[in-house]
Formats: sequence, structure tokens, C-alpha cells
Amino acid sequence: MRQLGVNIDHVATIRQARRTTEPDPVWAAVEAELGGADQITVHLRGDRRHIQDRDLHVLKQTVNVRLNLECSLESEMLAIACQVRPDQVCLVPEKREEVTTEGGLDIVGQQNRVARAVSQLNDHGIEVSLFIDPSHVQIDASKAVGAQAVELHTGTYANAFMTMKSSVGSRAGHSAAAELLVLRNAALHTLDCNLRLNAGHGLTYQNVQPVAAIPGMEELNIGHSIVARAIFCGLRQAVADMKALIRSAAT
Ligand code: PXP
Repeated sequence: MRQLGVNIDHVATIRQARRTTEPDPVWAAVEAELGGADQITVHLRGDRRHIQDRDLHVLKQTVNVRLNLECSLESEMLAIACQVRPDQVCLVPEKREEVTTEGGLDIVGQQNRVARAVSQLNDHGIEVSLFIDPSHVQIDASKAVGAQAVELHTGTYANAFMTMKSSVGSRAGHSAAAELLVLRNAALHTLDCNLRLNAGHGLTYQNVQPVAAIPGMEELNIGHSIVARAIFCGLRQAVADMKALIRSAAT
């Protein structure tokens, strides 16, 4: 059964634009749940550009589905995660200047550091997912550091899909198909390694179904596209629409 994690960071981004109290991401979590979200996902960034510490604490007390915290490997973030104890932490890379998370976390290049973070979080009863590029070496390293899951970065596939939609000719179509194959191969290897298979980043109502149809896919984390649609039809409906697409692709 595919699970939909709804990333509500953008709701907090609108609030922070005026440094006020609305819209409240806690309300967004309620609406997302009513629309069928299986998980609420938030990214607490070092610069606190959207989600604030208060949001995380209140969400922990109010969310009825799973709570997934995305954060960096910084000791400040790991301490907050261990204090709040979400159901899952997804470790992500973080650069101050980036608009959004740009690439996967490099596990190969910092295996000891990631292993320490995973065991610290596991010791506090938190499952750990690693947001990685869909490559065999990163999956092997994720297994080696003791993670329970990986979230395959779907950004390259999403970009190729967008290029295909906006260009004439079949070359771009090949590139989207090739990127989907990369994801499918990485998915197979993830399952061979006995890791849970998640995916996310850049997924939209147009490109989600081929990813949702990948055998063994457990969880998709989606933010921008859902919140963008919610402006026009409300968050509950936007989540329900995405959930229906995922469900029909997986059957
Ligand atoms: N998964 C991870 C690890 C992310 O960092 C993000 C963006 O915060 C998402 C999923 C959601 O990406 P999008 O907003 O493009 O759907």
C-alpha cells in the first residue's frame, strides 16, 4: 500500500513572508489528514525559513498519522529530533543558499558521521530514512550505516519529465524514460538490501504515477505541487486528488 506524505513547509513559507501567525501549518496538517494523507512531512531548516520549532512541537502533539521530520546532520537538529521523537527522520543535505534541497545526501563520503546519527536517532525510537540519489553505491552505504529506509531523489526524473512536456520531439521523452529506469533499478536494489523504499522531490499530478507504480514503493513525500493546487481548490481536495492518482497507479 503506497503511503502519501504531505510536505506542508510551503504553508509555513507563506506565514513567514509576513512573520505572522497565519496560515498555520498545524491547520494544514489537519486538512491534509482529512484529505487522506498517511503522513505529515516537515523540514526544519537551520535558517528556520519556513517551519519553526513551535510548529514541530505542536504537530507532534496533534498529528494523528505518521510525522516525518526532514533535517540535516547538524548536531542541533539531531538533538531536536531526539527530543520531539517524530515517527521518522529523513536525513537530507542542506545548503544555506539553496531554494530547495538540491541533491541527495552523500552517505559514501561521510559514512561514520551518518552511522552515528542513525544510531543516535534509533536509540530514541525514531526510524531513519536517508534522502539519496538513486545510485547503487549510495544504497549500499545506506544499508551499511544501519538506516531503515531510503528516500530516492526523484528530482532528475521530474526535471526530465518537465522538459519532455515543454519540448517537441522524442529526445526529451527518452530522457524521462531513462530517468524512470534509473529509479526502477535503484528501487530493485533497495529492496534487495532489505531497506524500505520511499521517494520524493519534484513529484506532481502529471509525473507521479510512473513512480507510484514502481513495485515495492512504500511512501511518496510531496509538497510543492499539492500546496500549489490547494491555492485553487483547498488542501483537503488537493491531497485527495493526489492520493487517488497514487492509488490507481499502484493497482
Ligand atoms: N522529500 C524531501 C527529502 C525533500 O527535501 C522535499 C522538499 O522539501 C520533498 C520530498 C518534497 O519535494 P516537493 O516540494 O518538490 O514535492
